[in-house]
Amino acid sequence: MKIVASAATLLIATLFFAPPAAAEGDIEVGKKIAYTCLGCHGIDGYRNAYPSYRVPKLGGQKAGYLEIALKGYRDGTREHPTMVGQAKSLSDQDIVDVAAYLATLGAETVAAGGTEGASFDKAATCAACHGANGISINAAWPTLAGQHEDYLLNSLKQYRDGTRGDPVMTAQAALIAEEDLAKLAFYFSRLDGLETTKPE
Ligand code: HEC
Ligand code: HEC
Repeated sequence: MKIVASAATLLIATLFFAPPAAAEGDIEVGKKIAYTCLGCHGIDGYRNAYPSYRVPKLGGQKAGYLEIALKGYRDGTREHPTMVGQAKSLSDQDIVDVAAYLATLGAETVAAGGTEGASFDKAATCAACHGANGISINAAWPTLAGQHEDYLLNSLKQYRDGTRGDPVMTAQAALIAEEDLAKLAFYFSRLDGLETTKPE
């Protein structure tokens, strides 16, 4: 009995006090790495050629999600030739650093949130993970608030056609009615949140 109890205590201690597995990002190093990235991501209205949609906003995006996305391009679960090329040049530490930097940008706006009068009842099911105002409650899940409408729509289509290998969101996207895809993209794009950060 005594052994079981101490094993349980040890387990609880491990759960609550284990240091985070990922290293802390160095924001100053991340800023230098981000300079190239913002050559695309920091230009208002900059577009992907085909299919045509705006390059996603990264300012204020969740660090954990940025890391997962970058590793996805690097390791093959996300396909986009330009981003695959960009991500392949980054080490694990580079990814942690650049994500840490990007997550700090526009942080005040992203924390505040706001609906700018937009509403769509079916967005309520998304709130469980993406937050009440489209601002994610988990660092590993993306903030949707303020992202470009056409980018959100393209992402949803990628989950639906299986070209983005995330099982959680693939399952969610399969439940959305066809006619609601564009309405959800419109709604989340109208909320206060992410920003297009200019290179300094
Ligand atoms: C030549 C232009 C260009 C450059 C340079 C570039 N990106 Fe991208 N990035 C894109 C495009 C286009 C997409 C959308 C790709 C897609 O649809 O999967 C993208 C997508 C992303 C995403 C996914 C965002 C999301 O919400 O899903 C992340 C993260 C990202 N880029 C980070 C970076 C980082 C970090 C760098 C620098 C190391 C960088 N990008 C450099 C064009 C660029
Ligand atoms: C159970 C949690 C959960 C729910 C509910 C959920 N999502 Fe997601 N969503 C995720 C996760 C996790 C990701 C990141 C997946 C990845 O790494 O590609 C994601 C990614 C996304 C993306 C991609 C964002 C980007 O920057 O490319 C969009 C768009 C999205 N979700 C929209 C929605 C919408 C709209 C709803 C409601 C109809 C919804 N999600 C419901 C967990 C969820």
